[in-house]
Amino acid sequence: MKILCLVMMLLLQNLEIDCEVSLNWSEWGNCKATCGHASRSSRCRPNIGTGRNCPNGQYRNQWCRNLPKCPISGGWSDWGQWNECSQNCIQNRTRTCTNPPQQYGGNDCIGNATMFASCNLTACKAL
Ligand SMILES: *[C@@H]1O[C@H](CO)[C@@H](O)[C@H](O)[C@H]1NC(C)=O
Ligand SMILES: *[C@@H]1O[C@H](CO)[C@@H](O)[C@H](O)[C@H]1NC(C)=O
Ligand SMILES: *[C@@H]1O[C@H](CO)[C@@H](O)[C@H](O)[C@H]1NC(C)=O
Ligand SMILES: *[C@@H]1O[C@H](CO)[C@@H](O)[C@H](O)[C@H]1NC(C)=O
Repeated sequence: MKILCLVMMLLLQNLEIDCEVSLNWSEWGNCKATCGHASRSSRCRPNIGTGRNCPNGQYRNQWCRNLPKCPISGGWSDWGQWNECSQNCIQNRTRTCTNPPQQYGGNDCIGNATMFASCNLTACKAL
């Protein structure tokens, strides 16, 4: 019976099928994280009724379902090439918040996406 139960558990991909029905399992505990992949466990307790006891401290684990994805904070790309020097002797370069992009409620990149510097074109020196 136990083997049949384990096969069903695998076929149905359902870890909630209880193959140890007569053991005295506690309620499922809290998931070990609030996002991403996490498991929860229940403890096997002394069984007064059937006398079917498991060794003290025995746990069973289960993957938590439907946890939200963990927040991913954004990171800056490298700076791009400097753009051409403008008439007012300022050049700029940019970076993007794509390494990685902010996702699932993570923080946005901190800082400026554009950086400026003075530059010296012959044209603007003459100004
Ligand atoms: C299962 O464990 C709980 C908590 O230890 C206990 O109160 C209860 O009597 C046990 N049930 C059986 C059937 O042994
Ligand atoms: C950056 O430089 C380019 C080329 O000179 C210019 O077209 C663009 O407006 C500048 N961007 C900013 C934000 O000043
Ligand atoms: C970001 O841009 C602001 C406004 O242009 C400027 O005052 C500040 O100094 C910049 N910060 C850095 C780190 O360049
Ligand atoms: C631009 O030229 C001026 C005058 O020659 C110089 O003082 C300044 O440091 C130069 N700036 C840059 C960014 O090269």
